[in-house]
Amino acid sequence: MDSKQEKINKLNEALELSKLGGGQNRIDKQHTNKKLTARERIEYLFDESSFEETGALVTHRTTDFGMEDQIFYGDGVITGYGTVNGRLIYAYAQDFTVFGGSLSETHAEKICKIMDMAVKVGVPIIGLNDSGGARIQEGVRSLGGYADIFYRNVQASGVIPQISAVMGPCAGGAVYSPAMTDFTIMVENSSYMFVTGPNVVKTVTNEEVTSEELGGALTHASKSGVAHKTSENDIACLEDIKKLLSYLPQNNTEKSKKINIEINDEVRDVLSDIVPDNPNKPYDMHNVISGVIDKDSFYEIHKDYAQSIIVGFARLGGRSIGIIANQPMAFAGVLGVNSSRKAARFTRTCDCFNIPILVLVDVPGFLPGTDQEWNGIIVHGAKLLYALSEATVPRITVITRKAYGGAYDVMNSKHIGADFNYAWPAAEIAVMGAKGASEIIFRKEIAAADNPEEKLAEKEAEYAEKFANPYRAAKRGFIDEIILPKNTRRKLLKAFDMLENKKVDTPKRKHGNIPL
Ligand code: HXC
Repeated sequence: MDSKQEKINKLNEALELSKLGGGQNRIDKQHTNKKLTARERIEYLFDESSFEETGALVTHRTTDFGMEDQIFYGDGVITGYGTVNGRLIYAYAQDFTVFGGSLSETHAEKICKIMDMAVKVGVPIIGLNDSGGARIQEGVRSLGGYADIFYRNVQASGVIPQISAVMGPCAGGAVYSPAMTDFTIMVENSSYMFVTGPNVVKTVTNEEVTSEELGGALTHASKSGVAHKTSENDIACLEDIKKLLSYLPQNNTEKSKKINIEINDEVRDVLSDIVPDNPNKPYDMHNVISGVIDKDSFYEIHKDYAQSIIVGFARLGGRSIGIIANQPMAFAGVLGVNSSRKAARFTRTCDCFNIPILVLVDVPGFLPGTDQEWNGIIVHGAKLLYALSEATVPRITVITRKAYGGAYDVMNSKHIGADFNYAWPAAEIAVMGAKGASEIIFRKEIAAADNPEEKLAEKEAEYAEKFANPYRAAKRGFIDEIILPKNTRRKLLKAFDMLENKKVDTPKRKHGNIPL
């Protein structure tokens, strides 16, 4: 064998070894735990044969605790780039078979290197997390590596889309990288995220809780809102990432790709019967959404969290849009602490990636109560008000029924910069509902009446006649047009088309001071 061939063999052997990660036994254990390996995940995520790995031969530099004898090529993370449905994407996947995917100094360097590259090239980055956290044998070098990643997450924020999948453990400070990316998707039953695990919780607070209860996918999707979405298993998670990517542009200087579709169904009769005549009867706002958008195109975010508001991406005439909609089925669609935060965050995500926003309004106001006030509904409601006010993407509002009080202002009213404000004929735009309003302004008259109940009903009807309609707002131009429900899609298609080249010059400043 000539020396040239020897050199080739040496390289091939090293690359083959790198593909084995921590070895077959540990790969088998990963499979037994119903998890794909990092390499299988990467292969599934990227278009066939498109992935180019970087840093396959990187190894750690630790010599403590006999680590010099435990060398694995790649050092527990696969990094590189390739195409996903034809689009250039960067990704890293932590390899649990190598020191439990724990993060060493070199492991972090590999991630940072591709993050820097993704920002330079203007391409989304996907992180597939599956890690025991800081490499315990490395101490502060590992902590520094985490901070290097966190810093880059922030620098990349609003520049390129960053998506995190949590596909195994993610504990301690490690959770802060996913938390600073645009989206976190967790795999059900095999992933968890927490700052301090069940043992520490037991010691400090005496609470007995399992990992799943404390920080499993369903917990974060419904209780904390840390997870934007959950997926049944690894494959479903990777499919979810691909779908999510399809609504996002490559970076903040581009728009999402518009899909060419034949638009032949502008009139949607189905919309006419969704809102009940009785204003106190709930209906499912999802039906309004699906009645307006391109067929089956809704991708809901935070589906199980703060359900009185719905947020998600959809397509309208092939264009990617973000939808924010009150949900009368949950707490009458009221705005609370969590629903305000949820919608504010989504607004900012859309705005930084040039995704137009459609707001569907049926809101009775802000949620009353000590719980809400003491938990800062003022400041959280202000987040949504602030986020929508500063958003410069095309913004359109449709009031389907109630738009009461401060919530009328907040839900993308004309006054805070919406481009088009439509209302359906049954819309009620007022300071509050007719009953509450009558009880306040006609209190004395009602109390003095022979039959107070009859008087209240009479005054209520009078108030409703005057104010519980969209005409006063339309007269002032706060509503641009009162439209029939069945024509909503057609109106929106035209309006978003018209707004395609919207430009807004904002005053020069370092950054605004959103009430966090
Ligand atoms: C080095 C680690 C490791 C770590 C796991 N391993 N975590 N090696 N550093 N942090 C190794 C194990 O030694 C084992 O090696 C292999 O990975 C698989 O681990 P197992 O324990 O066998 O797997 P499992 O039973 O599935 O348990 C997974 C686990 C557990 C729950 C993650 O390993 C664990 O609790 N690890 C420690 C977690 C932790 O405390 N990390 C530090 C958190 S603090 P072999 O050779 O047997 O395959 C932190 C701070 C970050 O991360 C701060 C950032 C600012």
